[in-house]
Amino acid sequence: MTVSAEQVNQWVDDLAGKSPQTIVKFALTTFPGLALSFSGAEDVVLVDMAVKSKLPFRVFTLDTGRLHPETYRFLDTVRAHYGIRIETQYPQAEAVQQLVNDKGLFSFYQDDHKECCGIRKVEPLRRMLATTNAWMTGQRKDQSPGTRNSVPQIQLDTSFSGTDGALVKFNPLANWSSGEVWDYIRALEVPYNPLHEKGFISIGCEPCTRPVLPGQHEREGRWWWEDATKKECGLHMGNVEAVSFEVRN
Ligand code: ADX
Ligand code: SF4
Repeated sequence: MTVSAEQVNQWVDDLAGKSPQTIVKFALTTFPGLALSFSGAEDVVLVDMAVKSKLPFRVFTLDTGRLHPETYRFLDTVRAHYGIRIETQYPQAEAVQQLVNDKGLFSFYQDDHKECCGIRKVEPLRRMLATTNAWMTGQRKDQSPGTRNSVPQIQLDTSFSGTDGALVKFNPLANWSSGEVWDYIRALEVPYNPLHEKGFISIGCEPCTRPVLPGQHEREGRWWWEDATKKECGLHMGNVEAVSFEVRN
């Protein structure tokens, strides 16, 4: 199914104000081969909603090789709890080997995170997305004031290509707050990553994530040595392009 921008805009209008569960059902019904991207953090609520919809879906995770031990264990907890298959996408061995041999294991503290994220996350994501026409993320507007303020529930992803070219991206949690996500997790006894009990709110790779202090925004725990407007690793490139567009104009 090839989708136009007009079609996506129509869906955005039709589904405005609808719950994440409704968006998830719509997405899985419209795109039976949809791939849900699961980072091993609180986006587990999407897995829960997808399972409860009883519709078929795929789940994938990008294993950068640098995730926390707790996250690796949690991925297996989710596999077992829901009885689902989680497709794991790995970076290209040669590219990782060359980066580490040339620059060591922590070059992102000196340069910035783009080169390492490009090899460990973005290129593997590009390969994964080439196998589908639609994907789903746990992005929310309140996750990053610097880059995610205007994340829509549904959009055409112009940063990557799907099997037939056009790629639709669903962000069902876009309008939910962190509080609403956690209310869902607690009320429905959804399993969660134990790092959340140690002060972590946003969770990514181990060397690039740290707990935040009371009152700090969750994004301050990610790539803390970099500017807030650069805190995207390339999975959601459109957010950064949108920000620079707003700044230019
Ligand atoms: S990131 O771009 O800064 O790393 P973030 O951690 O906020 O992203 O997660 C936002 C969404 O991106 C997640 O809900 C998930 O859909 C997707 N995502 C992030 N990291 C991964 C990963 N390692 N594997 C699969 N999906 C991911
Ligand atoms: Fe590399 Fe850090 Fe990006 Fe993970 S988050 S891929 S360790 S730069």
